[in-house]
Amino acid sequence: MSEKKQTKPASKEAPLYGLLAEYEKPKQLLAAAKKVRDAGFEQWDTYTPFPVHGIDPAMGIKPTILPWLVLGAGLTGATTALVLQWWTNAHDYAWIVSGKPFWSLPANIPVTFELTVLFSAITTLVGMLMLNKLPHPSSPLDFSERFARVTDDRFFVVIEARDPKFDEGDTKALLESTGAVAVEAVPEDTKTEGRMPSVLVYAIVILTCAAIVPFALSAYAREAKNRSPRIHIVPDMDNQQKFKSQRENDFFADNRAMREPVAGTVARGLLRTDEHLYEGKAGGTWARTFPPAIKADAATMQRGRTAFGINCVPCHGPTGQGNGLVNKRATELAEGTWVPPTNVTQPHLAKQPVGQLYGSIKNGIRNMPGYGHQMSSEDIWATVMYLRALQRGQNATLEDVPAAQRAGMK
Ligand code: HEC
Repeated sequence: MSEKKQTKPASKEAPLYGLLAEYEKPKQLLAAAKKVRDAGFEQWDTYTPFPVHGIDPAMGIKPTILPWLVLGAGLTGATTALVLQWWTNAHDYAWIVSGKPFWSLPANIPVTFELTVLFSAITTLVGMLMLNKLPHPSSPLDFSERFARVTDDRFFVVIEARDPKFDEGDTKALLESTGAVAVEAVPEDTKTEGRMPSVLVYAIVILTCAAIVPFALSAYAREAKNRSPRIHIVPDMDNQQKFKSQRENDFFADNRAMREPVAGTVARGLLRTDEHLYEGKAGGTWARTFPPAIKADAATMQRGRTAFGINCVPCHGPTGQGNGLVNKRATELAEGTWVPPTNVTQPHLAKQPVGQLYGSIKNGIRNMPGYGHQMSSEDIWATVMYLRALQRGQNATLEDVPAAQRAGMK
């Protein structure tokens, strides 16, 4: 505002900023605004205590371009998010998640949505401020006593002297003809010359200095050496009189804080003396029978089917032929190191002792990991029983079908 060139000096010592017309009713203001608009002025504005309906068309204000800016920003946000995710996850460092395709739109929607909203929101705020030329900390109107009522019950039109059509006498006559209560000449602001109020300047300086403090503190904390414990406002149970794992403890001869259980200690329920049940062995060799604790009934078979479905189907497939989804995906990738899961219904495995199948599942076999840590012995035995059923099913002969049902088969 302050750089504005004054074309027509006013009669008073300070140059003229503009003419201020005061009205009592919004209706009068609307009528006056229409007149000023029709007279072709451009550098003018209306000031009201509350939003006045119809003021935009009365002043000839065109619709704002802000929505278009926001649309552009939103599209930029969406594009940025999509390209970024495609580049990082599907192109530059292809990353397999749950065997899904590298590039799949649904997985990328949340980030895209967020960036669209973020870009739009920032553009809305910054664009609104810039289009309105805000912040605007000082105005010559602040020095008019009459203008103080603008926040209460009066309505004003101000035509600025820099408008090319402005002529002090003619413009004053025009404003008076609009039914203004008063028309007043407002001088340029020579006192502050558009500088920010000093309170604001001090506030900004103080806040800027204060904003540096946290960074200074953390920079100091990174570099400084200090032996006393850090300030702990809410200690919870962080500080306890105990030794952490892998630490030293001079109380014991071997200096270890972690202790072995006393020799011979067995946790409740973990006494596993039954070699048949827990190792699948009888007399040192693979057991050929199921342990007595495992009942050969429909419930065990169902349990085995469930356990097989959870633990084995991903690789071995639902019928055990080695065609699970993991195998399909690995074959598709063809990376060369994949050992296909065995077809577990092959005759040589059907002849294997049940104890050996138990051992393969519990401890793993060659490239297949063991499942002993995540399946109970009962679950493993039930799985072996289900394996046997799969093997029988794949290698069945007519003799296996009950005589009564053979008739209906080809
Ligand atoms: C991560 C994939 C994977 C899973 C899951 C998996 N296996 Fe395997 N399995 C394999 C592979 C691979 C082999 C072949 C290993 C080799 O030959 O190196 C194999 C081999 C086997 C064999 C053949 C053992 C032999 O003596 O040749 C049996 C039986 C078997 N798996 C049973 C199971 C059962 C039962 C489960 C579920 C508890 C299971 N597997 C889960 C990958 C898997």
